[in-house]
Amino acid sequence: MAATPSRLCGSWPGSSCAGACPWITRVSSRSCPGPGNFVSAMADALVAGTNPYVTTWLEGSALAQAELVALDWLRELLCLPSTTEGLFLSGGSMANLTGLALARAAKLEGMAGRGILYCSDQAHSSVARAARLLGFGEDQLVVLRSDRAYRLEPGTVASRVAADRAAGRVPFCVVANAGTTNTGAIDPLPELGDLCRREQLWLHIDGAYGAAAALSPEGAALLAGLDGADSLTLDPHKWLFQPYEIGCLLVRDGGLLKKTFRALPEYLEAIDGAEEDVNFCDRGPELTRAARGVKLWMSFKAFGVDAFRSGITHGLSLARVAQAAVERLAGWEVVSPAQLGVVCFRCAPPGTDEDERDRLNAAIADALLQQGSAMIATTVLRERKVLRMCTINPRTTPEDIEATIALLGELARPRSRNTGQAPRADSEVIRCGERGA
Ligand SMILES: Cc1ncc(COP(=O)(O)O)c(C=O)c1O
Repeated sequence: MAATPSRLCGSWPGSSCAGACPWITRVSSRSCPGPGNFVSAMADALVAGTNPYVTTWLEGSALAQAELVALDWLRELLCLPSTTEGLFLSGGSMANLTGLALARAAKLEGMAGRGILYCSDQAHSSVARAARLLGFGEDQLVVLRSDRAYRLEPGTVASRVAADRAAGRVPFCVVANAGTTNTGAIDPLPELGDLCRREQLWLHIDGAYGAAAALSPEGAALLAGLDGADSLTLDPHKWLFQPYEIGCLLVRDGGLLKKTFRALPEYLEAIDGAEEDVNFCDRGPELTRAARGVKLWMSFKAFGVDAFRSGITHGLSLARVAQAAVERLAGWEVVSPAQLGVVCFRCAPPGTDEDERDRLNAAIADALLQQGSAMIATTVLRERKVLRMCTINPRTTPEDIEATIALLGELARPRSRNTGQAPRADSEVIRCGERGA
């Protein structure tokens, strides 16, 4: 006999997952935790239930209008020019792909084979994948070494652009980070904006997780220069607390979207509508798509933008709580200080070499995972394994963070070679700026 819906809901795999993984709701540092909210979940249910076709204005204008309003709110909150238009996509990877497709169309007419784009060694992997999918060869994506603070250095870009031009290549795009996944580093956006304008390069800013911080006063100051982007990726399913999937691309010269992506086959002619109608299928690579922006619109309406601001401010301050807690642990070092809700650190007991520390930190992350009360990701900075905490879940408390760091200290003790040794009074903590690049 077929199971009833209520029985199926009772054995919903998602609920057993949450039971087995309590960190899903509290301390999770998977690359970017995705703390959703109830109103948006209900909006998704309504969208799924009514199943509007927001692809064309004719069929889905009411909800398409809600998406347009949400896009415009984002534009205003990020202080982007009034010419900006955009669309909601499944996430940051698709937004980066769409942004780079636009850059290619706008700057490389007939010269794609010689085009060169630039990013730092801290760019998200979706940038390299997008370049590959767009048909660029490996030598057409120039990955530049980031500076000591993991930022793309404008001088380095400028000299490489000059060298590439001299060699007959066609530099066309710089991908800058507004919050790297690894450390939260923000590239020098105003300087990169100036450089791109001077050199007539497209500036794509990947703010998939970081750009939302501009809603808070502290984040807005850190993210000055976002308005220099030709295209900007921002993922509401990261720091705007939306359930998956909702990424967003905002484009300064909004008209380019339609120019690049519009396709009008004969079977859509009858529903094409008037020139001023917004058919989202004209703005990106997807034809049929869910009305993803409705949940963002609804949650902004329900909670008000100040609730989002304070959630973001909370995340920024939690990373500082984490940094301070690590600094109090003997034999631990802060490798990259709290930036946009990310802090990286490692256990580095005296008398251990770098390889031992790599193994130790991987073992600590694994032990925490097994223990089950929190989840801390590892990453690699300058070839060394570090622990990375991303504190953007508004339900996480300072006490959760402190307890998790204390637990890491406990888990480290029996695994470190110096088991039993009393903690050193002069802790081995290395503070930001003290560590070589
Ligand atoms: C900076 C950055 N860009 C792009 C992405 C990719 O986003 P998504 O996983 O939504 O495709 C991420 C994901 O963590 C990210 O941190």
